Amino acid sequence: MNQLAQELNDILHGTAALSLLSDFGKRFYFPKGIISQTAEAKKYASTFNATVGMAFNKKEPICLKPVKKSMPGLSPKESVAYAPTPGDESLRNLWKKEILRKNPEVNGTGISQPMVVSGLTNGIAHLSDLFVDPDDVVIIPDMFWGNYRLTFEARRCAKIVDFPFFTGQGGLNIQGFKETIMNNARNGKAVLMVNFPNNPTGYSPTKKEAEELGRVILECAESGVKILAIADDAYFGLFYEKDTYTHSIFSVLSSIHENVLAVKVDGATKEDYMWGFRIGFVTFGGKTMTSDQYEALNKKLMGAIRSSISNASRPAQSLLIKTLQDPGYTGEKEQYFQILKERYQTVRRIVASRKESPALTALPFNSGYFMSFRTNGLSAEKLRTELLHKEGIGTISIQDTFLRVAYASVDLADLEELYLKIYETAEGLL
Ligand SMILES: Cc1ncc(COP(=O)(O)O)c(C=O)c1O
Repeated sequence: MNQLAQELNDILHGTAALSLLSDFGKRFYFPKGIISQTAEAKKYASTFNATVGMAFNKKEPICLKPVKKSMPGLSPKESVAYAPTPGDESLRNLWKKEILRKNPEVNGTGISQPMVVSGLTNGIAHLSDLFVDPDDVVIIPDMFWGNYRLTFEARRCAKIVDFPFFTGQGGLNIQGFKETIMNNARNGKAVLMVNFPNNPTGYSPTKKEAEELGRVILECAESGVKILAIADDAYFGLFYEKDTYTHSIFSVLSSIHENVLAVKVDGATKEDYMWGFRIGFVTFGGKTMTSDQYEALNKKLMGAIRSSISNASRPAQSLLIKTLQDPGYTGEKEQYFQILKERYQTVRRIVASRKESPALTALPFNSGYFMSFRTNGLSAEKLRTELLHKEGIGTISIQDTFLRVAYASVDLADLEELYLKIYETAEGLL
């Protein structure tokens, strides 16, 4: 084992984090190579700095005119220069402040400094490398974003074990979490993936459900199971109902028990309407973790980032910094939240008026971009293709049993027509 990896593992000695790391994770470290020598030179090379692999002209990174013209608000350092491997430090500070503002239950000194990754997908892929070994089990409620299968099963050769997301009464299946964790922990280790607001259902736990989820995970941890709990917060903030738990489940899990290492994966992708920017963040939280131990985990993650994407997009980070610092930021976001909420309320009204439809039953939804129908006695894939080729309407079929509708992507004025066509087409297929 590399000496630096061993030193990081020594710092993590006795923590759940060390037991949860995969072989990859245990092996990983951040080398004292070009990157750390460059960082050192940035501080001390006052005469000439000849370290970094970038071309300079009069102390500014060379920047072609079309780039300058297209990004007039960014200096060459903000547009074309490399970003540091862990991400721009001021962006990391700003994002942490945002996490604490939006999740007041989180103790600011009890979590790690967020690391910048290239979107949430990239963050989840790094976590799967660092914590999931071949043949490990990853526990996910059965309505989940299909990309997890590619990440955990195809990339890492792990096995996803699922369980019903909802109870028969239409609430979150809290007992399912407990039973699945207890029945599938291997060598005292369980990896749990949660995503609220959920893709594809658009469901988030109520306040009571969030509390109960915390309680059952605490019970599993108290029984000795070490749990990596990954919160995919892609759609964070789009909570439309009063009784919904409007904080990240990371708030509950990041300080719950020393056997639980919680990780928040979030980003600008959906929260700040910057889908193509490819900026995500990874933040760790564990009850007894020290700042040195968080730094050791971040060093391992830096190794994973350095060896794959090297660093995330600099112009996207610069633009996100400017956005987060803009005085109109929260106000403008609130306006768009209201637009999406209105779409949600309209869809709820339409769905309620079609409650008796023999073809489609709406699954519970209260947040996010989506809602899903269960297709009763008809193929969801057949419905999807019929909608596409006869009506020119694009939807997503899942397991041939569910139809996902991204109502957030359709203007309010078009929702009545969209849903009328969906119901009519489905009922015509019965
Ligand atoms: C649940 C969930 N997580 C993550 C992502 C992807 O995020 P990113 O584009 O930042 O990789 C999506 C996008 O569809 C998603 O639905």
